[in-house]
Amino acid sequence: MIVYQKLSKDNYKDVLNIKHQLFPESNSDDDYEEYFNDVTKSNYYLILKDDCECATIGWYEYNSKNAFVGWFGVLPEFQQNGIGHEILNYIIAEVKKMKYDYLRVYTDKVVNYVSTKLYDKLFDLREDYTYPDKIGSTNNFVIYTKFLSDKKEKWNNTPLNEDYNYDI
Ligand SMILES: CC(C)(COP(=O)(O)OP(=O)(O)OC[C@H]1O[C@@H](n2cnc3c(N)ncnc32)[C@H](O)[C@@H]1OP(=O)(O)O)[C@@H](O)C(=O)NCCC(=O)NCCS
Repeated sequence: MIVYQKLSKDNYKDVLNIKHQLFPESNSDDDYEEYFNDVTKSNYYLILKDDCECATIGWYEYNSKNAFVGWFGVLPEFQQNGIGHEILNYIIAEVKKMKYDYLRVYTDKVVNYVSTKLYDKLFDLREDYTYPDKIGSTNNFVIYTKFLSDKKEKWNNTPLNEDYNYDI
């Protein structure tokens, strides 16, 4: 059974530990600080499968219309068991309830190729992200969009403002 444990001071270290294993190139631990300090509207979960800590997922607000999936990953020994699919669907439903028009996610289509296979199934639109910032300049990044209302705006290379989060 999958349990969704909301990010708290008690499980913060466990969530970070999973995040560091899955995203060693990222230095944005501040995202969680912003969650605790209410700087950015967001929500994150530690995921347990049969009492084992196996994954993290969350979302954060970009603006009043758009939310992004944040720190989504399943530890290697738990992958390919349907956990990623299930917890992503959970987040889609949660963000839809919050009345955002779009849930978006960006990913590196080379380093995180497998994630694109999952996103191809669950999202409605895929666009290349080529804005000339650190990640866009790699030409490896793609943005997926899930339409949550009748609005259907593309992302159209709007800056993600993630430069400070990555050393690439
Ligand atoms: C992407 C990720 C979260 C998927 O988690 P998961 O629990 O293994 O995913 P699932 O078992 O639910 O699989 C969902 C779909 O992903 C695809 N998939 C999963 N593993 C795959 C693999 N090794 N090769 C090809 N496709 C794969 C399949 O399409 C699968 O659907 P199917 O089961 O109907 O065939 C996981 O691989 C991961 O954490 N990767 C590293 C971090 C990452 O890339 N995070 C997302 C970055 S934004």
